[in-house]
Amino acid sequence: TAQLDLSGQRWVITAGPTREAIDPVRYISNHSSGKMGYAIAQAAQLAGAEVQIISGPVSIGVPDGCKKIAVESALQMHQQALELANKADVFVACAAVADYRVSDVATQKIKKSADEMQLNLVKNPDIVADVAALPAKPFTVGFAAETQDVAHYALDKLKRKNLDMIAANNVALLGQGFNSDDNALTVFSSKNKTELPLASKKILAEQLVQLISQHYIEKK
Ligand code: C5P
Repeated sequence: TAQLDLSGQRWVITAGPTREAIDPVRYISNHSSGKMGYAIAQAAQLAGAEVQIISGPVSIGVPDGCKKIAVESALQMHQQALELANKADVFVACAAVADYRVSDVATQKIKKSADEMQLNLVKNPDIVADVAALPAKPFTVGFAAETQDVAHYALDKLKRKNLDMIAANNVALLGQGFNSDDNALTVFSSKNKTELPLASKKILAEQLVQLISQHYIEKK
């Protein structure tokens, strides 16, 4: 197959978890490692794209040649994403954005007292859906981590969020998904379904970037 050439294209990729502050020393987050998003960034960069990663806190290094914009909260990621997506050709939402944030972040460390306490949570904005609603909408790709009815929920998200593609993985299967070095994906567009079987996130990212590129060219 011909060598993939993404030169002249700008790709923006969200990756990693978000952190939602409770007080100055505590937060709510999740187990996302950022590995899949960073692997996609690396594959796109190696194929010639200009790549910006909007990243929550992760322990892995930035791929050579990619630019990292470090954020913590979903609101910060949302702001950066909307700004950068305006000038992007392709937007890939790989981040595990916290669905909710604490409504009133305490300015001082919360002291231990009563046996029970409540945190009030409010819904975070849907970053990828807001990017897909931009007048200058880039080719927009989402992810769906599901534990059941993978195809059903993925196709629902594709439609509801107005995405061009969605990559679904079954996180209930052992040895793939969150924090793992391997993954398997089922990729849906409105017309096609493509299975990318269990492989390293590096190999999978190369295949996914290829697939995104094909659909992006067809759409243009
Ligand atoms: O709805 P759900 O969280 O399962 O959708 C997952 C997809 O939506 C991922 O691509 C994720 O990055 C994106 N997402 C987002 N902002 C949110 C929640 C999810 O961009 N607040």
